[in-house]
Amino acid sequence: MTAPGTVAEVATRVLKPDVAALDAAARTLAAGGLVAFPTETVYGLGADAGNGEAIARLYAAKGRPAFNPLIAHLSSVAAARKLARFDTAAERLAAAFWPGPLTLVLPKAADCPVAPLATAGLDSVAVRLPQHPVAQDLLRAFGGPVVAPSANRSGHVSPTTAAHVLTDLGGRIDLIVDGGATPVGLESTIVACLGEAFGKPALLRPGGVPRAAIEEVLRAPLTDASALRGQTAPRAPGMLASHYAPNTRLRLEATHVDPGDALLAFGPALAEHAADAVKVLNLSARGDLIEAAANLFSHLRALDAARAETIAVMPIPHHGLGEAINDRLRRAATPHLSPPKKHYGRGS
Ligand code: TXA
Ligand code: MG
Repeated sequence: MTAPGTVAEVATRVLKPDVAALDAAARTLAAGGLVAFPTETVYGLGADAGNGEAIARLYAAKGRPAFNPLIAHLSSVAAARKLARFDTAAERLAAAFWPGPLTLVLPKAADCPVAPLATAGLDSVAVRLPQHPVAQDLLRAFGGPVVAPSANRSGHVSPTTAAHVLTDLGGRIDLIVDGGATPVGLESTIVACLGEAFGKPALLRPGGVPRAAIEEVLRAPLTDASALRGQTAPRAPGMLASHYAPNTRLRLEATHVDPGDALLAFGPALAEHAADAVKVLNLSARGDLIEAAANLFSHLRALDAARAETIAVMPIPHHGLGEAINDRLRRAATPHLSPPKKHYGRGS
């Protein structure tokens, strides 16, 4: 007998994204299966957005502690309009950044086809048009909205390669479409445009589109999520403090390396100290935040595997993608509620 919450072992196929693979992936989704696929941000674990049972299996495969709301992925703005209501701000943001690493949380359309389980019973729905050609091909082949959280075990760092997905979810999902490493490397920026009652558009999660670029399009500053949280707040459990958690403790803003530390460097490494480190990986030796974002999750995974005492993380500037990088690092550094050794902390 399987214990509640356990997942039946399945053979997970890994396929290169040719026509036959995309066809198989679309058919798997239509049959209620689970398919991991690359987007420009991170790998997503897709399920048919209209199929509640498939979505329940998706939560089980991830080992999500709760039914956090999911992002519905679409292949066109017209398709997104069937799910959600766009105000002026949302229209502007969609025109400027779609397809791309921006998710909009919007009021649900009256006949929104997304299963209530995927929106955790909220009146809002998160929508995004990914830019990655494999994601676009898959969405077109499937022909409907696909909900897709990051394709990692709950609480683990997001996967930026098919190998990461296989490590976390092998045996628990049907298919992985291997489209290589994801170019952005950080999840999408999430902005809520919930209309007048909620005030200005709010930044729910920093991500692949920098805050400044969004504020330039809106010609106004974004409200902070905390301002929304007090109100009839859209719950964004992805904002849990401890979320992207490796097993190894992180020490942020590190200016030295203790013996036994692993070092996550940025820019010129702490050359005189690096020799003491168990392992050193540089997010970007030339100090490029875009390159750093693309490397963040795979470097965290690799350093976590080095079983160091602590991962020392050099300071990362806060501008551009630095805001999202620092957000993920802060969450990764937040202590787990329970001993982390066996299982990862909470999150999505
Ligand atoms: O880049 C990305 O966004 C990736 C790729 C696969 O598209 N997806 C991703 O999904 O990061 P996930 O499930 O790991 O994170 C989605 C976040 C969660 O923090 C969730 O709470 C929030 O979106 N969210 C979804 N629907 C929401 C809603 N209606 N209101 C507030 N937050 C919502
Ligand atoms: Mg996630």
